[in-house]
Amino acid sequence: MDSRLREDISAWLEFFRDLGIEEFYRREPGLQIESGKSKLETGKDSKNLVGGATTLTVPDPQTPSPESRITRAQPLSLFEAPAPPRPEREALEEIRQDLGDCQRCRLARGRKTIVFGQGNPHAELVFVGEGPGADEDEQGLPFVGRAGQLLNRMIQFVGMKREEVYICNIVKCRPPGNRTPEKDEVDACSPFLFRQIEAISPRLICCLGAPAMKTLLGIKEGITRVRGQFFDYAGTKAFVAYHPAYILRNPREEKILREDFERIREFLKSHR
Ligand code: URA
Repeated sequence: MDSRLREDISAWLEFFRDLGIEEFYRREPGLQIESGKSKLETGKDSKNLVGGATTLTVPDPQTPSPESRITRAQPLSLFEAPAPPRPEREALEEIRQDLGDCQRCRLARGRKTIVFGQGNPHAELVFVGEGPGADEDEQGLPFVGRAGQLLNRMIQFVGMKREEVYICNIVKCRPPGNRTPEKDEVDACSPFLFRQIEAISPRLICCLGAPAMKTLLGIKEGITRVRGQFFDYAGTKAFVAYHPAYILRNPREEKILREDFERIREFLKSHR
């Protein structure tokens, strides 16, 4: 098939796919359409594609002609067509329900509350931290302590409100003494994080700190070398930044955090 024809066909297929029409049939070369009935509508392999009114055919690659692409049985009524089944995205509530009163790892013993996540379920930007601290454990919400206040400022810096983004952690229960979560704890909890990200389907994920970077991107290098860069997480862009708690301990690094969030701001602006 010549490449222009291929492009042409693929443009038509995309167009119809945008209208929700997923199935196409190739009309046999030379098939005559009589009084609004095609063989596809009457024959034994007949399949009504768009609610009974219209049959769509793709051109025969050997004998393309613009008219052969749509055969009208009656006036075109694509918008009356029942929507084809689409895979539903899982809701965050379902994931929360599955998590239940989680006892999958030892962190369950020391926690007061499960800190599932907070924010817009359709957020463009998702922040992933490490794990709840004392304030988060108390309130059941992520990043509400001092690190959270700095994160709030950075969110404003990129021109957004906290309610517009989604914030969560790689583990949902507070590690004792705020230690870094251990591998088996992350292994037990991260499937819920992966499902949350898939459910939200953001434009950008921001990994806050090395544990989030390792969990989502599998990067083992030091964060100092990797921060400020974009990576791919299952087809979604993922950015690595320092954890706000690190900046609170090393205030001189705040300039770097701002530079990194400037990159986030630019990314969001150019991907609107
Ligand atoms: N640090 C984190 O990594 N997550 C929180 O929710 C709070 C502090």
